[in-house]
Amino acid sequence: MGSLLLHWIYHSRRRESIDSWLNFSPWQTCLQTHKKVNHSTTAIAHPNVALIKYWGKSDRAENIPSTPSISITLSKLETKTTITEADIDTIWINHKKVNDKKILKFISQIREKTAIAAIKINTENNFPTGAGLASSASGFAALTTALNKHFSLGFTQNELSAIARKGSASSARSIFGGIVSLQGPSWEAAIVEQNSSWPLKVIIAKTSSERKKVGSSQGMELTRRTSPYYEPWIREAKSDFDDCLLAIKEQDFEKLAELSERSCLKMIGTMLSTSPPLIYWNPTTLECIQAIRKMRDAGTAVFFTTDAGPQIKAICTPESAKEVTKSLSSIVGPTNIFGCEIGGNARIV
Ligand code: DP6
Repeated sequence: MGSLLLHWIYHSRRRESIDSWLNFSPWQTCLQTHKKVNHSTTAIAHPNVALIKYWGKSDRAENIPSTPSISITLSKLETKTTITEADIDTIWINHKKVNDKKILKFISQIREKTAIAAIKINTENNFPTGAGLASSASGFAALTTALNKHFSLGFTQNELSAIARKGSASSARSIFGGIVSLQGPSWEAAIVEQNSSWPLKVIIAKTSSERKKVGSSQGMELTRRTSPYYEPWIREAKSDFDDCLLAIKEQDFEKLAELSERSCLKMIGTMLSTSPPLIYWNPTTLECIQAIRKMRDAGTAVFFTTDAGPQIKAICTPESAKEVTKSLSSIVGPTNIFGCEIGGNARIV
């Protein structure tokens, strides 16, 4: 009966937005009849690296970015999240019990609309957590995907993207594989290019394992409030985004390199100009950037980007990967290099 009702709700309504659907009262009544099940559900999602950056929010309650963004979903690095029903909500990250307010808030936002049961969340990352490698992007994408399956919520990938966004806006992009965009007015991510059509490589150089001291949400708010460059940053974001979409369509590596480095450096400029200043880089970050610039000047197809952290992400063509890996290895050591390709969708395993 429950599933028939779900089916009817899913197929019979017309809705303007995901929120009005979630507010549809029979949907909630139906979900309240959910019976505790003993099995667990596991999902995997990959982090992503933004070429055109999201930095700043226009609506903090809904977590709506003030800039559109474009990213590459990364293969090999992954977050694996298992949910099991429990008596109270508990969160384990990399075998440690944690009191993660962001995740708890996200679950309570979903619960306001869907009456999901109490859960134990068990998350493992095969890469450093909270050090600027987008663990929150893959984390919320995996959690949203697992919840959708476990509680038979029936959301589409697009809807999952909008839901994941509320946890962390970059995670809206990690629902999809390939090259992915996130823009208004829907603020659901969309695939720009499937993985196979432009086989770019991403070589990550880990320059530090420290957890960042100022998280992205807090850093963005500080930037919005205090940086004199915040307003011009927002003003130019849309044209950078449009130009980047064109560069991807035309597979113009040079143009992509120029636009991506510029978006990164403009974002870093807003961070440096906050009060107090936000300095996420370390001397090794800069050393890697200089090495990448030198290679590009000599004709190697490579460019850099960084996020709210000190790690370097070098984007290159398959032909350049060996040289880039060698050069960055000589700076950070081979054990701190992660070679990625373009990764796939968040999925149930
Ligand atoms: C620098 O998605 O982590 O990586 O939405 O507040 O959770 P919240 O922020 P988050 O910010 C990512 C910022 C960035 C750039 C990007 O990924 O676009």
